[in-house]
Amino acid sequence: MNILLIGDGGREHAIAWKLTDSPKLKKLYIAPGNAGTAMLGQNVNLNLENPAEVVRFAEDNKIALAIIGPAEPLAAGLGDALSDVGVAVFGPSQAAVQIESDKAFAKDFLTKHNLPTARYAAFTEYSAACEYLADLDYPIVIKATGLADGKGAILPQTHTEAKLTLRDLLLDNRLGKAGSTVVIEEYLEGVEVSLLAFSDGKTVKAMPTAQDHKRLRDGGLGPNTGGMGAYAPVPNVAQSLIDRVMETIMQPTIDGMRAAGTPFVGVLYAGLMLTDAGPQVLEFNARFGDPEAQVILTLLKSDLIEIGLACINGTLDEVEIDWYPDAAACVVMAANGYPNAYASGIPIDGLDAAKSDYSEVFHGGTKLLHGNVLSAGGRVLGVTGWGADFRAAIDNAYLAAEKVEFAGAHYRRDIGFEVLNTSVEFS
Ligand code: AMP
Ligand code: GLY
Repeated sequence: MNILLIGDGGREHAIAWKLTDSPKLKKLYIAPGNAGTAMLGQNVNLNLENPAEVVRFAEDNKIALAIIGPAEPLAAGLGDALSDVGVAVFGPSQAAVQIESDKAFAKDFLTKHNLPTARYAAFTEYSAACEYLADLDYPIVIKATGLADGKGAILPQTHTEAKLTLRDLLLDNRLGKAGSTVVIEEYLEGVEVSLLAFSDGKTVKAMPTAQDHKRLRDGGLGPNTGGMGAYAPVPNVAQSLIDRVMETIMQPTIDGMRAAGTPFVGVLYAGLMLTDAGPQVLEFNARFGDPEAQVILTLLKSDLIEIGLACINGTLDEVEIDWYPDAAACVVMAANGYPNAYASGIPIDGLDAAKSDYSEVFHGGTKLLHGNVLSAGGRVLGVTGWGADFRAAIDNAYLAAEKVEFAGAHYRRDIGFEVLNTSVEFS
């Protein structure tokens, strides 16, 4: 079948890489794609903000399946527009994607279904929000409720900082509409784990657990980013804990969404905090994570197209999903200046040398110019390694990363190190 993949990041390169494994694939189009996806299919420059243009392309090119990588086009209704003309869409409807795109919706949903999450209140008015601050213990967490590219969660340490954050979001509109409603929530202590799962709206099946590294610098220092690296599976999380989260959080979430008339089809991603009181939901995403996809899809043995179609057709219970027993790690190489204003158009060397039987370079922000690969984004590459154990996966990722060069490139040297050196086990 002809497939249209939407997005242009490392996640989409990883999805494209996996799709090209499948005998079901005829022609792959990626809109808009990057230099990495261009090696696997045909990039097409569609205006994603104009669903009619994407729908016309899908009809003209006999697209049978669309896979939507990022949340923004899902929230803008691109999936619904494609479904309306008979394209099978892997990704939730506009109504279901609210579980990510509206954090107040997500918190209300969690509370209504008695699912474990930080205590919270939602506000649109500065004065009411300030009043609520008075009785809290610090730190707290203030979140923009809309999609904010990983910049929407702020952790004020004091009452004064919290008031400034509220001013920034509610009065000065720093994040625009995304921050015009805020959620103020209790600060949770613990270890973060991402659990992603496939769902057809009824059945939900877990992927290997993953861990992102959100901070820019080694040791978890520096500002938050979109994600500087990831690994999977998380070695110190016991299967019993995953089973419990599936049973007590993921399945009830899927059941609740279906009961509300907004069945969730696609990838449900729970950002979890493992606290002393048990796992708590920090947030839901309605898609693969980036860079989580780069490690998780490396471990997927089964056909992704088959899984996607089973999700769309409501037959996920009939599909066996197999995973390699390996571990994978991804090191994100970022452009000089990222996560602030960064350099662009920088030539990249060593991409071929970095590829091996145990490593792949997934492109994030890259473009092709006269056959040369240039940087074109903040998170330029997701260099991914795998191996029989965790140590081998990390070594293979770094071995590959050392072969790639571009001016101003920087990356964390400690992806996976914390968990490698811990004896704590979560069960
Ligand atoms: P979110 O966008 O909701 O995933 O939040 C981004 C990051 O902020 C998370 O990955 C956590 O590191 C941190 N965070 C979010 N909510 C909380 C919370 N309630 N307590 C502590 N840290 C949090
Ligand atoms: N890596 C976090 C995310 O994709 O939301």
